[in-house]
Amino acid sequence: MGRVKELWRDRDNQIKYFKWLMYYSKPYAFKIFLLMSFDLIMTFVSLSMVAISKIIIDKATHATTEVPETSFINDIFGFLADGDGFTTAIIVYVVLTLSMQALGIINGIMSTMLNEKFGFGIRKQVYEKIIRSHWLDIKKYHTGDLMTRLTSDAGAIADGIVNTIPNVIRLIIELIVVFFTLYSYSHTLAFFALMVAPVSAITCWWLGRKLKKLQVKVQESEAAYRSFLQESMANLLIVKAFANENYAAERLTDLRENRFYWVFKRTKLSMASSTIMGLSFQLGYIAAFTFGAFQVSARIITYGTMSVFLALVNRVQSPIMGLAKTVPQVVSILASAGRVIEIQNIPEEKSLPIEMKRENIGVKVNDLTFGYTDETVFENVNLDIKPGEFVAIIGESGIGKTTLVRIIMSFTSSLTGSVDFYNAYGEGVTANSGTREFIAYVPQGNTLFSGTIRENIRMGKLDATDEEMWEALRLASGEEFVQNLPGGLDCVIGERGHGISEGQAQRIAIARAFVRKSPFLILDEATSSLDENTELQVLKGLQALTPRPTCLIITHRKSILPICDREIKIENKKTIITE
Ligand SMILES: Nc1ncnc2c1ncn2[C@@H]1O[C@H](COP(=O)(O)OP(=O)(O)OP(=O)(O)O)[C@@H](O)[C@H]1O
Ligand SMILES: [Mg+2]
Repeated sequence: MGRVKELWRDRDNQIKYFKWLMYYSKPYAFKIFLLMSFDLIMTFVSLSMVAISKIIIDKATHATTEVPETSFINDIFGFLADGDGFTTAIIVYVVLTLSMQALGIINGIMSTMLNEKFGFGIRKQVYEKIIRSHWLDIKKYHTGDLMTRLTSDAGAIADGIVNTIPNVIRLIIELIVVFFTLYSYSHTLAFFALMVAPVSAITCWWLGRKLKKLQVKVQESEAAYRSFLQESMANLLIVKAFANENYAAERLTDLRENRFYWVFKRTKLSMASSTIMGLSFQLGYIAAFTFGAFQVSARIITYGTMSVFLALVNRVQSPIMGLAKTVPQVVSILASAGRVIEIQNIPEEKSLPIEMKRENIGVKVNDLTFGYTDETVFENVNLDIKPGEFVAIIGESGIGKTTLVRIIMSFTSSLTGSVDFYNAYGEGVTANSGTREFIAYVPQGNTLFSGTIRENIRMGKLDATDEEMWEALRLASGEEFVQNLPGGLDCVIGERGHGISEGQAQRIAIARAFVRKSPFLILDEATSSLDENTELQVLKGLQALTPRPTCLIITHRKSILPICDREIKIENKKTIITE
């Protein structure tokens, strides 16, 4: 009973998840309905086939009963039983069999396509949510976790909406229809067939309770195994550099064994439950068989009716068992919906209209207090970076330089105080996701994508021409080396710039920012892998531009300080010395 209590206790959430699922299915409602109708038609067709086969058997055996049999099914198909119905019955049977096959094909194609479309629909929405939410809120999740939600959770939901939930409805309708059909033949047998229901219900509760725990274990072990695979591939160099190959291989085996253990336990449990259900199923069948045989021998029913009995008993029991099996599925769909909703609930960034000339831009930070956690990085900090200024930001590692940039870039969602951009014409705007439009940013670390150099630079300006890209490369001191690469701008580089040097990757990242021709530039240790001459050349090139962009340069190097207008030193969270 634990599962029911649990579901009941969590009912508000479950109802919310269910409503969300319904809301999401709305655009697909017609197609889902169509699929369900197909399923139902197939149910009715196969029921008719049972009835027609009875007629064929009865004709073949020239069967009669003491008292005429009564059943509404006999009334419907009675015309086949009259006169020379034998051939007609066989023809109808063949036509129905063929149409069942045809329906099966259409149904299969439709449900696969719908599943794909629906799955992609959810994935796209979650993906868009991820890219439109505050970076910091999203970064709280492990990439692997987000990937799981985007792929397997979204897949489970799609499968649930397209298959499981329509299946539940179909099973319920089938159960009712088949039950009453059987009931019309024999009241006793109909109730006999239902005997399997309590057994299924109890088994399913018992199974559900244990299964949920095992399912979590299986998923956890799968996640650990996948994370290890992914991380050891990404850091293959470290595995090899520290001669960790054997260790890595053993670790993989351990993780695999752990997963194996839980999968084995889960399989044993499902086998036990399906054996219990299977046995009760068999008992129902034997009961129907014995009962039928007695009635045939007493000439109460025909052989044909007995075959109907056996077929129908089977068909009353299978939806019951089917329903029992879908209970854990429905629970896991709701769980997946919960995980996806969690991402959906992350607030999106809001971009405000910018009504200012995008030239000569400065930024004012007023009374800023910020921390990633309760521990603050900044407390009541004030700063003013004037339009056109070249400012070096210095300070020891971990003091908050990158954090300051993230705040100016509006990557963080919660801060107190204010960050405002202004221009030389007295116009201004509060920093928000929209203000990134006039900022060009070169982040710390290697941030290149796999693909061509052209694709990488274009990210800075999607409609950049080749001339603009070469100009940006020239300014970033990257023109010469790109010219010498096979294919030039079309040269393909690997993940995180694999195939070119660290300093070359930095210059492409700088060109990606320069191609925007933004009035406000932020370089976070963007030149740390360049030699001093190249670094100075890049910065001096920037200073020579007209109009001169405002430039924030985070650096650990003293050599560039002389060419900056000013330096801002972050000493501790409260003191920022500007000179
Ligand atoms: N996502 C985060 N969550 C929690 N704390 C963070 C996060 N990112 C940074 N921090 C913490 O905030 C502080 C400032 O980090 P920040 O990256 O701004 O330092 P930095 O001055 O850029 O250092 P470096 O010169 O090494 O790049 C550090 O103490 C760091 O541990
Ligand atoms: Mg940093």
